[in-house]
Amino acid sequence: MSRSMKVTPSVISIKPTRMNFEFGNQVPHYWLDNDPFSTHFISVLSTFFPDGERFFVDSVRALRDKVSDKARQKEISGFIGQEAMHSLEHTSMNDMLEERGLPANKAAKTALSLLNFGRRFFGKRHQLAATVALEHFTAILAHRVLSDTELMNQFHETMRPIWMWHAIEETEHKAVAWDLYHDVKGHSYVERVAFMIIASSFLAVATAINQLRFMHADNQLWNLKTWAYGLNKLFGRRGVITGLTSDYLDFFKPSFHPWDHENSALVAYWREQLETAMNEAA
Ligand SMILES: [Fe+2]
Ligand SMILES: [Fe+2]
Repeated sequence: MSRSMKVTPSVISIKPTRMNFEFGNQVPHYWLDNDPFSTHFISVLSTFFPDGERFFVDSVRALRDKVSDKARQKEISGFIGQEAMHSLEHTSMNDMLEERGLPANKAAKTALSLLNFGRRFFGKRHQLAATVALEHFTAILAHRVLSDTELMNQFHETMRPIWMWHAIEETEHKAVAWDLYHDVKGHSYVERVAFMIIASSFLAVATAINQLRFMHADNQLWNLKTWAYGLNKLFGRRGVITGLTSDYLDFFKPSFHPWDHENSALVAYWREQLETAMNEAA
């Protein structure tokens, strides 16, 4: 077991679940905080998921033979299954966006070309390092969703379950790619950090471009009120991104491990809430 490795908390089990969420007319146009900017920001992230998660799965699958431990192999299978299910559900969600005249396919294509650049120019370990970096993003964002009740309540009830479910599972498997990376010969702190910087830059640029495309397609490009409101919600003093800074920077500590952010109790709590929400919807 390498120096940076910790065991996944025993209450956590990494199992895929097929949800079959429905995205019909019951979903309002602005389903997050009744706000264009906020809704489009999260929609843009959704367009990145199907191809992004396929990239994560491929990078983990390519190196899983470096692990012989049975429990770890089971975790890896759980990770692959969970990400595959996320891809499916987000594809349905993205189809809804496209049907509503939003450029979801175009946004996904931008992300895919960046990922394909990674596949072409980086080796297996480097691709896994990119996955580790992007999984850190999903983990800290998921933690925010699960720990900020006000934010969770801003999701319309028809859209809350998919984000709740995704956040739960991102937390459950947050250390799988990380642990695998640290089992691959040649891994290093410098490489891990370098790929975080590359991944952060790509993600920021792709998000900004597609936020503009979504706002334009929805005739909201010059709606300064929603820009001011949304940007403040992200980058203001109590903003979501501002609030993630310290969790993000923890990645740059040489001794960091994803379970240093011990939030397994949140997962147990929200699993129960999700079940209730799904039963009520049925
Ligand atoms: Fe995911
Ligand atoms: Fe993930």
